[in-house]
Amino acid sequence: MSILYRSDAERGRTWARIFAAEAPDLPFHIWPDTGNLEAIEYLVAWQPSAEFLHSLPSLKLLFSIGAGVDQIGLEQVPDTVSVVRMVEPGIVSGIVEFATMAVLALHRNVLHYQRAQREAEWRHLDVVPAAERRVGIMGLGVLGQAVLQALSPFGFALRGWSRTPKQIPGVDCYSGSDAFEGFLGGCDILVCLLPLTDATRRILDQRLFRCLPTGARLVNLGRGGHLDQSALLEALDSGRLSAAVLDVCEPEPLPVGHPFWQHPSIMLTPHIAGVTQPVTAARIVLENIRRHRRGEPLHNVVDRAAGY
Ligand code: NAP
Ligand code: GLV
Repeated sequence: MSILYRSDAERGRTWARIFAAEAPDLPFHIWPDTGNLEAIEYLVAWQPSAEFLHSLPSLKLLFSIGAGVDQIGLEQVPDTVSVVRMVEPGIVSGIVEFATMAVLALHRNVLHYQRAQREAEWRHLDVVPAAERRVGIMGLGVLGQAVLQALSPFGFALRGWSRTPKQIPGVDCYSGSDAFEGFLGGCDILVCLLPLTDATRRILDQRLFRCLPTGARLVNLGRGGHLDQSALLEALDSGRLSAAVLDVCEPEPLPVGHPFWQHPSIMLTPHIAGVTQPVTAARIVLENIRRHRRGEPLHNVVDRAAGY
């Protein structure tokens, strides 16, 4: 029995230290040192190929190194393997910090002031009180709910949208496609924290932008595949939207010359909002492996039918 880690090798060395100290009976390999392929029962990876997955006859658990699992391609994972997504405090605090920064930056018109500074112009906008700014989160899972909790002390009018109904104190909760337009109509700042599935691909499209209040702002922290890029450019250039913060795009990185790089109303970051932290993540994975070995139910198993 062994575990193979197939991701960033430098961070993998931290994982290896934790496993050596806390599970010395479980051999831990960092790709490309796989040890005996037939002994690998646990795999930690971002985007393993179908061919590689099928070369591991004893594989039991596939741990996504990230919270999202769309990059894995669930249909290519053998049915005998359970897929577990990453839920660990390092990702949560990263997303909370980034989302709070982005919402506050959009609320206080930071992109406008960057443009004004570059043009050496003392050009101010009215300050809108937080209570008059409506912030909506798409996706009320681990990350969406943590972001709502962090935004709560600022006094924004908070709302959220999910697939199944939720009740969150201080948040107007909407669920399902019937409630989607009603939700969008009250989002001055919209944050996407959805998983990328067949149901959510290109959800950030022209129809959605038309349902938002004029001049709304967008933060995409989900996946690049959520966004229709042409629709965003059209919405920004027409004034339907006033600014966007994009941490994810498709492809990553964007090609040289892509209009997002230089767009004055877009802030682009290289998929760094919530980065898996090796110490906390290794311990979470180890706890799930222990549960597996004891025959107990696992945490954070992906529902393959739902895709997340
Ligand atoms: P999660 O706990 O699984 O939550 C997903 C939420 O999305 C749930 O509330 C779910 O609704 C909702 N949802 C799913 N499909 C939907 C649909 N068709 N319509 C409406 N709501 C839908 O996931 P998480 O841990 O919060 O992570 C969310 C995503 O964030 C990840 O999948 C990943 O893509 C992204 N992410 C990005 C970064 C980054 O650095 N940018 C880092 C980590 C994660 P229910 O509650 O009803 O199931
Ligand atoms: C990062 O994007 C993740 O899914 O954790």
